[in-house]
Amino acid sequence: MSSSDRDDRAISFDRPTSARAYGWMLGGKDIYQADQDILLYMLGRFPECVDIARQNRQFLYRAVRYLVEEAGISQFLDMGCGLPTDNNVHQVAQRFNPDARVVYVDIDPIVLAHGRALLADYRASTTVVTADMRTPELILADPDVGHLIDFTEPVAVLFLSVGHHLKDFDKVGKGARHVLRHIIDNVAVPGSHLAFSQVVSDDPTLGEAFAAKIDASGIPWQSRTPAEVDALFDGLEQITPGLVNLVDWRPDPNQPPLEPVPEPLRRYIGATERRTNVYEYGGILRKP
Ligand SMILES: C[S@@+](CC[C@H](N)C(=O)[O-])C[C@H]1O[C@@H](n2cnc3c(N)ncnc32)[C@H](O)[C@@H]1O
Repeated sequence: MSSSDRDDRAISFDRPTSARAYGWMLGGKDIYQADQDILLYMLGRFPECVDIARQNRQFLYRAVRYLVEEAGISQFLDMGCGLPTDNNVHQVAQRFNPDARVVYVDIDPIVLAHGRALLADYRASTTVVTADMRTPELILADPDVGHLIDFTEPVAVLFLSVGHHLKDFDKVGKGARHVLRHIIDNVAVPGSHLAFSQVVSDDPTLGEAFAAKIDASGIPWQSRTPAEVDALFDGLEQITPGLVNLVDWRPDPNQPPLEPVPEPLRRYIGATERRTNVYEYGGILRKP
């Protein structure tokens, strides 16, 4: 990426961002000192973060493939899409249905800067919108969303590894439940789907310790227990195997591998084999 692809006026380099810290764990190279500092600090206490980030990204492939091949979905609204890497949503979806359309949404303008370059070949079917998912009404009113997504047809709304960025009570918007449910409940037609994941802990005290460290860095964070996540999705049908640790969601040993883990993070690979208290939890739900 050249510097001219970026909107440097809006991109912050002295504060950590979730998009860059997560992207680094997936093998990304767009990483700055502030991102490294918070991530390495977190890994000192929670070494499982690298594994669970990568387990989430592998779930993304399986979820999108399921949504296209088995649920017949051809339009996707990807909330908090993150920095592009291998096997992004539009690439997975269009591998299984070349007519699939994708709107990416992220609050971090660096995602748009990277997305523009990546999407040069996909303009008619895929776009990136810089917006805050905590105000879904504004996202629905965005002309780029209306241009690609037809809400009279089933849609998949993805909230992958973003649930922890949504607080139950937030100074922006009406809180996590509204963000997650507004589109699926009030706008999407039956047969639409919602894919979700977030960092959870069975131990609320541990979850709170995890959240406090990240929240203090300026990245909004709320850990939940699995039961607290389940309560957000009452009334929607759970696609088998339901909401689970993502490693148990239809594992596929033949799915494409991720980019290699960057050298400074390699020592953390495999931590989830020893530590099972913090993990990424989620699945796919269907509007009946
Ligand atoms: C952990 S990454 C997940 C990326 C991608 N969904 C995935 O599963 O690979 C979280 C992303 O959510 C974005 N994000 C956080 N809060 C947001 C908000 N309020 N609105 C839109 N995007 C947000 C961050 O910028 C980041 O790119």
